[in-house]
Amino acid sequence: MADLRTSLAGLSLEHPLVLASGPLSWDGEAIARAHRAGAAAIVTKTISRTAARSPRPHIASVPGGVLNAERWSDLSPRQWVERELPLAKDSGATVIASVGPTPDDVDSLARALERAGADALEVVSYVEAALPDMVRLAVEAVDVPVFAKLNANGRDLVGTARACVVRGAAAITAIDSLGPALRVDLERRRPLLGAASAWWSGPAILPQALHAVSVVHDAVGVPIVGTGGVGDADAAIEMLFAGASAVGLCSAPLVSGLGLFSRMRDAMGERLDRLGIAAVRGAVGAMAGEVETGFILRFDAGACAGCGACVRICPYRARRSPDAVLTACRGCGLCVSVCPRGALGWERSET
Ligand SMILES: Cc1cc2nc3c(=O)[nH]c(=O)nc-3n(C[C@H](O)[C@H](O)[C@H](O)COP(=O)(O)O)c2cc1C
Repeated sequence: MADLRTSLAGLSLEHPLVLASGPLSWDGEAIARAHRAGAAAIVTKTISRTAARSPRPHIASVPGGVLNAERWSDLSPRQWVERELPLAKDSGATVIASVGPTPDDVDSLARALERAGADALEVVSYVEAALPDMVRLAVEAVDVPVFAKLNANGRDLVGTARACVVRGAAAITAIDSLGPALRVDLERRRPLLGAASAWWSGPAILPQALHAVSVVHDAVGVPIVGTGGVGDADAAIEMLFAGASAVGLCSAPLVSGLGLFSRMRDAMGERLDRLGIAAVRGAVGAMAGEVETGFILRFDAGACAGCGACVRICPYRARRSPDAVLTACRGCGLCVSVCPRGALGWERSET
C-alpha cells in the first residue's frame, strides 16, 4: 500500500490527516480521543487570554456544510497549560496549540503553551494584516515550529502567506472558515444561530480551499496544511495534488464522527494505489498546469446506461442522445460531470 507518511516543518506524521482547530479538540480528553481515533496530529481549539463565551446556539449542520458562530476556547489559558495540554501530550498525540486571535494573546501565551508540551504553535487572527506580526511574536518566543493560519476572507492571501514566511512561519494552514455567513430560521424569523454573522465550512468551501492551497503553494516554500471542506479520501488527495503536505479536517468529523480518520486513512492508501502513486510525499503539488484547449468529448457506448442525464442537463440543448452532439455544443463539460458511469469524458484532439 502507498506510503502515507508525511512531514510538516519537522513534525513526522504517520499519514496526512490532521484534526483542525474546533469543537473536537476542545480539551485534553477530546484531543486524546481524536488521537486514539487515528488523527495524525491535532490542533487545539484556539487558546486566548480570556475564555470565550459563544452565542447560543452556535453550530448548525446545514445543507452544504456547517455554520458556526463559535468563538475561541471557553477554557482559560491557565487550564490549558496546567491540565489540558499535559493530558493531551500524555496520550501520545502530536499537539499543535492554536493561539490567538490578537497579537497580545500570542505575546502572553506562546511560551507557556510551548512549555506545557505543544509540539508546534498555530497562530490565528480575524485580521489579515495582523497575522505576520503575530507570527513574528511567536517565532521570537518559542523554539517549536510556528504555523500561520490563513483566512481566505481577506484580500491578499498570497501576500499574507509570504509575509508570514518572511517572519519565520515554518508552515501555513489554509484556510479558516469563510464568511461572514447567514442562514435564517423561518419559523422564528431570526438568524439560525445566536449571532447574525456566522462562519461557513464543510464540503461547499472545498473549491475555495483548494484554490487557496494551490496559489499559496506556488508562492511559498513551506509545507501547507490544506484545510477546508475535506470529507473523503478523494478530496484529501486533491489537497495533496494542490500543494498540501497534510490535510486538516474539522466539519466532516464533527458531523460524521471521529471514526472518519481511520476510514479515510485506509481509503487514501487504496486510492493512491489505484492512481499509481507510491507515496504521499510524491503527491504533494503533483497537479499539472491549466487544461489545454485542445480536448474533445469522448463517448464510451459500453459504459453508457442510457439514463439520459447528459441530455437533460445540457443548457444549450446540444445533445439529442448520449452519442449525438450538435454544433451548439460549446464544450462546457457539464454533461461529463453528471454522467454516473464515466461514459463521457475528454480526449486530446488531434488538431
Ligand atoms: C464549530 C467550529 C469551530 C471552529 N473553531 C476554530 C477555532 O477555534 N480556531 C480556528 O483556528 N479555527 C476554527 N474553526 C475552523 C476550522 O479549523 C477549519 O479551518 C474550517 O472549519 C475549515 O475546515 P472544514 O471545512 O474541514 O471544517 C472552527 C470551525 C468550526 C466548524
